[in-house]
Amino acid sequence: MAFDIEMIKKVYENMPDRVDKAREIVGRPLTLTEKILYNHLWDGNPTKAFGRGVDYVDFAPDRVACQDATAQMALLQFMHAGKPKVAVPTTVHCDHLIQAKVDAATDLARAKIQSNEVFDFLSSVSNKYGIGFWKPGAGIIHQVVLENYAFPGGMMIGTDSHTVNAGGLGMVAIGVGGADAVDVMSGMAWELKFPKLIGVKLTGKLSGWTAPKDVILKVAGILTVKGGTGAIVEYFGEGATSMSCTGKGTICNMGAEIGATTSTFGYDDSMSRYLRSTNRADVADAADKIAPYLTGDPEVYANPEQYFDQVIEINLTELEPHLNGPFTPDLATPISKMKETAIKNNWPLQIQVGLIGSCTNSSYEDISRAASLARQVSAKNLKTKSQFTITPGSEVVRYTIERDGFIDTFEKIGATVFANACGPCIGMWDRDGAEKEERNTIVHSFNRNFSKRADGNPNTLAFVGSPELVTAMAIAGDLGFNPLTDTLINEDGEEVMLEAPTGDELPPKGFDVKDPGFQVPAEDGSGVQVVVSPTSERLQLLAPFDAWDGKNITGAKLLIKAFGKCTTDHISMAGPWLRFRGHLDNISNNMLIGAVNAFNQKTNSVKNQLTGTYDAVPAVARAYKAAGVPSIVVGDHNYGEGSSREHAAMEPRFLGVKAVLVKSFARIHETNLKKQGLLGLTFANEADYDKIQEDDTINFTDLTEFAPGKPLTLEFVHANGTKDIILANHTYNAGQIGWFVAGSALNLIAAGKA
Ligand code: F3S
Repeated sequence: MAFDIEMIKKVYENMPDRVDKAREIVGRPLTLTEKILYNHLWDGNPTKAFGRGVDYVDFAPDRVACQDATAQMALLQFMHAGKPKVAVPTTVHCDHLIQAKVDAATDLARAKIQSNEVFDFLSSVSNKYGIGFWKPGAGIIHQVVLENYAFPGGMMIGTDSHTVNAGGLGMVAIGVGGADAVDVMSGMAWELKFPKLIGVKLTGKLSGWTAPKDVILKVAGILTVKGGTGAIVEYFGEGATSMSCTGKGTICNMGAEIGATTSTFGYDDSMSRYLRSTNRADVADAADKIAPYLTGDPEVYANPEQYFDQVIEINLTELEPHLNGPFTPDLATPISKMKETAIKNNWPLQIQVGLIGSCTNSSYEDISRAASLARQVSAKNLKTKSQFTITPGSEVVRYTIERDGFIDTFEKIGATVFANACGPCIGMWDRDGAEKEERNTIVHSFNRNFSKRADGNPNTLAFVGSPELVTAMAIAGDLGFNPLTDTLINEDGEEVMLEAPTGDELPPKGFDVKDPGFQVPAEDGSGVQVVVSPTSERLQLLAPFDAWDGKNITGAKLLIKAFGKCTTDHISMAGPWLRFRGHLDNISNNMLIGAVNAFNQKTNSVKNQLTGTYDAVPAVARAYKAAGVPSIVVGDHNYGEGSSREHAAMEPRFLGVKAVLVKSFARIHETNLKKQGLLGLTFANEADYDKIQEDDTINFTDLTEFAPGKPLTLEFVHANGTKDIILANHTYNAGQIGWFVAGSALNLIAAGKA
């Protein structure tokens, strides 16, 4: 139905030559990660060795995947690229906009009413531009990608941080912002700093209560939430090959929680089995033919310290089940230590809710192992003490587990089955009583457990564990319960023990589904109309930004001199604003409202130089724009750190800001500013930041000579008539100057010049 075997065969056709060449150039054996990266260079054959953590490299990913929240702006932008179809296979998945409240059918029906116009828009754009569209209820992006699109040795990007899940099928899969996705969909290269490499050697074998989730919970405890930054984590060893493919997916999924660029595993039998059971025998056959290229070289795995930047070793035989949390996924506690740790920290011991599923943990294996525990409830005459919920990752999984009786088993212990969607994992959980903000404990098999993440209650302590452990804990209702050693008292007053979970890696009767929820795009989409209501508050078609008029920018007003930290959250806040992600005008009302004004130390209060009054940043920007007055933003160090959210660059562009001058940029944000046709500049002399005054008017004096490597000169005219000349550096190359001249990178693509 959905994968593109011809594309995959092409990747495999190129791989042996390119990998052999790369090995020769690099002059040593290669890791799997390096093989995949060197086989996906934008320029084709490798010609030089790249410095890990140093060189920026252009890549050609095989696929793009977008979820419904981030796809809106990405597709609105793509519509401007002037292309009849996406340049690489792309899919859109409706999973983030479905709130969990009652049950799957009720919640899905409500979401279809509430977000109808967004779903319709995504469906029609997908249909028009050759994008595969997964309807609401079809499943969660990463599970659907694993079931249909991921393939060993492939490279993909996706507009969601847990895109990394596809590493379970041997991909290099990376989460990006919408602007990056638009580039690749439009046929442009995708740039990434060549990553550092962390090797994780897995020895021994999982058994009993321990699950793949415990591997990543342990790794998170070792590396912390920042330990993987700028690195790809590669797992290998007998422990890796002994694990299921979907278990590998779980481990890679939570690589996002250690900040890793992505994680991956070498091709093995478990992947072949998974591919074959999900109707992709041809992919498995093709992979089998080049199998040695789809894993690291044997010398690398024999002497990992020589070839990785960091190596961690974990013995799966000795690994204990873990629960990580609360409030951070790297606070790892082995289950045997949980009781004393919880008491010491005064964490509420009573578990209110156990939640299993999500993109992280809803494989057939996960569900069947959890069901083996649920079955013991009636067999041992127990009563489930906590509420229990399941969010299946896809309709394929849901249909299959229903057919095999697991849903019935869960319902018998009082479980609620939510829609195949993100739901409680992303705060889309209308939990009864959450508004009371009572302190309480929940356990779940998701990936993130930051404050408010699941139910919006800052006093909910969420602990992350494997689905089987979460099920056992929900049955016991007690955070201090250790199912490996402790007994429970059943309804007859007898002491009983839960037996260790058992299950099937893959459904013995095969996967099945009646309606997978997939919309095949039109062969020729030229006649498809994309309709966006002009009165919609959630969606707005974009108009191209104006091209540069070729003159110096003069008479610009200082909009804000931001003080201290100014992340993409300060520039374009999330929370309630997410609703307007597809409406640039409406979401622009959050522009810089979190930034601190250096002159009064207040947020969202800046001087309107035209009136002399103080007002909200977006209001002042709109006033300047309406008066035809350009504006400029000044900032501190690492301006724009945080996410790759393109709204943080589009909003200032939309509201008439011409340049952002800072002490230093977070690189992705700097690139996003360039793509939107803004000037992203840095002080040649940082101390000049202090010279900028509240009533300044700014003139560029040599923008007409804008060229790579040549600083620009800005004149800051103060209220008293004096002025400071400030030199600004920039990192624009000739192509990027072309973006500025055209008004945006997309304008250039649309003009057929990029
Ligand atoms: Fe959705 Fe949570 Fe996964 S938000 S994509 S289920 S991480």
